[in-house]
Amino acid sequence: MTSIQLNLLDVQLRNDSTVGQRADTPTLPPTHTPTHTPTHTPAHTPVHARQLTKRFGDNVILDQLNLDIRAGEFVALLGRSGSGKTTLLRALAGLDRITSGTLEVPKACTAVFQEPRLMPWKRAWRNVTLGLKLDQPRQHARQALAEVGLAHRENAWPGTLSGGEAQRVALARALVREPQLLLLDEPFAALDALTRIRMHQLILSLWRQHRPAVLLVTHDVDEAVLLADRVLVLEQGRIVSDIAITQPRPRSAELPQFQQVRAQLLELLGVEIDTPVTTENAPAPVVMPFNFSNFSI
Ligand SMILES: Nc1ncnc2c1ncn2[C@@H]1O[C@H](COP(=O)(O)OP(=O)(O)OP(=O)(O)O)[C@@H](O)[C@H]1O
Ligand SMILES: [Mg+2]
Repeated sequence: MTSIQLNLLDVQLRNDSTVGQRADTPTLPPTHTPTHTPTHTPAHTPVHARQLTKRFGDNVILDQLNLDIRAGEFVALLGRSGSGKTTLLRALAGLDRITSGTLEVPKACTAVFQEPRLMPWKRAWRNVTLGLKLDQPRQHARQALAEVGLAHRENAWPGTLSGGEAQRVALARALVREPQLLLLDEPFAALDALTRIRMHQLILSLWRQHRPAVLLVTHDVDEAVLLADRVLVLEQGRIVSDIAITQPRPRSAELPQFQQVRAQLLELLGVEIDTPVTTENAPAPVVMPFNFSNFSI
């Protein structure tokens, strides 16, 4: 069995168990049957982390972090590279043990990563239902693939899918598990700009329809503000900022409220913001090869 397969099966194992981690429980490799203490997280707060600490050797990555995510809430998580976003997501997914603190997440929890992690030797529909015991797996897979606009590729081999298509199969694989908590670790990072925009629309429509709680890790401040109800910033192992985005969807990056939140977040992330463009310092206009305003996506 390859490591990719191990990782994937690992996430699926968590789908079949209630995940409520407590520290200092015996450590087993993540591919074993989970040993988490079963807990019953209140339905309105599927994610409840208190004093969550994760160390790698002497390095404290998550430092007594507290986090709540309400049912159906869409939360984005920003933070500098190496700040511990993936570490937090892996802890929530039950892939890594926490060092101390408590962590409760719902039984139905699935994760989508930057790379789709499909089994190349299984057709798209089989990847969708991999590891699940269903009466009519193909029918379930077909329905999930239709939801991500890929009904026509159910028999495709992963190697014949584009990056965006493969990532949509990964989303279908997450959806078919009917997650209460959907964890997304930079799922659009490897996609081109237009495919990303399509994926934003898709993820929002799937979220509206299925209403899982979502935790989206991203480096893209605009993506976070466009999609989320709340944007968190992780720094030095803790959530240092928690900003509610109240602008109704669909959101426009042109609006002053959007730009205000973006500026606030960029500052928190230590990114210097350019001087506002005025008539005096505006660059010469660039002639585009064709009119993008007529380009429909
Ligand atoms: N298995 C591991 N063993 C030792 N150190 C690790 C391990 N996994 C992560 N780390 C360290 O933990 C820190 C946080 O890593 P993590 O991958 O969570 O960061 P991140 O915020 O997701 O970064 P990026 O934005 O670049 O993806 C890094 O310093 C990393 O080197
Ligand atoms: Mg990461």
